[in-house]
Amino acid sequence: MFIPEASNSAHYVDTTFWVIVVISAVLLVGVTSAMLFLIFRYNRRRGAKAEQVQGGTALEIIWTVIPVVLVLVMFVIGEKSFRLIRSVPREVMTVRVDARQWSWMFGYDNGLRSDQLRVPLGKPVKLRLSSADVLHSFYIPAFRIKEDCVPGMETYLWFTPQQQGSFDIFCTEYCGLGHSGMLAKVLVMPEKEFTDWYTGSGAKGNRGLQLLQEKGCLGCHTTDGTPKVGPTFKGIYGRTVTVITAGKERTIAVDGDYLKRSILDPGADMVKDFPPVMPKIPVTPEELEAIEDSLEHLR
Ligand code: CUA
Repeated sequence: MFIPEASNSAHYVDTTFWVIVVISAVLLVGVTSAMLFLIFRYNRRRGAKAEQVQGGTALEIIWTVIPVVLVLVMFVIGEKSFRLIRSVPREVMTVRVDARQWSWMFGYDNGLRSDQLRVPLGKPVKLRLSSADVLHSFYIPAFRIKEDCVPGMETYLWFTPQQQGSFDIFCTEYCGLGHSGMLAKVLVMPEKEFTDWYTGSGAKGNRGLQLLQEKGCLGCHTTDGTPKVGPTFKGIYGRTVTVITAGKERTIAVDGDYLKRSILDPGADMVKDFPPVMPKIPVTPEELEAIEDSLEHLR
């Protein structure tokens, strides 16, 4: 209602939600007014006397039938939207979603990887969700879909985007320090534009930058100059920083050796005023060179 209904399931989810809200509101008002009425009507100060009442077939039928009907209405409408959300059509494009502390990575069948989820307008998409570390939860409010990403297990979601544009992706399971920054966008683009990206332009790119994305580095380090959980990568090469080495502060200029050491052994030189939370991320020597090279050129 207040957020665009941008997928095929959005309308069903909203309808279910509002039906339940209306039923609950009617019940709340009904029960509360009955209670208030009885409190006044049978107040002891008005001289009411307690009386034992037995039986009342009509009453019993009413208070059995009405709740059963209400509950069945909620069940039927809820089951219908639930079944829609869980039944993946046969013809879908599959995208892998890898969650990690604290970033999302989207992998396509042709090997393409991206930190934004790009999808063609009007085509069904299936997401295969997994997590590299802890519980995360993948949520696109505008599509009304949400599912946990569980380590060691695959879960799924599907949707057909029905509105062009860019919509928020959130993590809705508290997963540590960077949880609130675990954001991404889903970009719904016209089919032609998507195909161009899928088959061409998007596939190219800087190998080192791609690795920074894949390894989840960009979850904590930005490339635009703003500090996040860790220092920004922009202009990092040659920067003068104060680090804490074995409990002692020292000031150094960032060079290639320092960058490599910090990737292989994050605890060796901790940059002052940042939390010591960087995990050791496995890299091959060749990957290390590529990452170091791209960091050197991020100005
Ligand atoms: Cu991932 Cu919260």
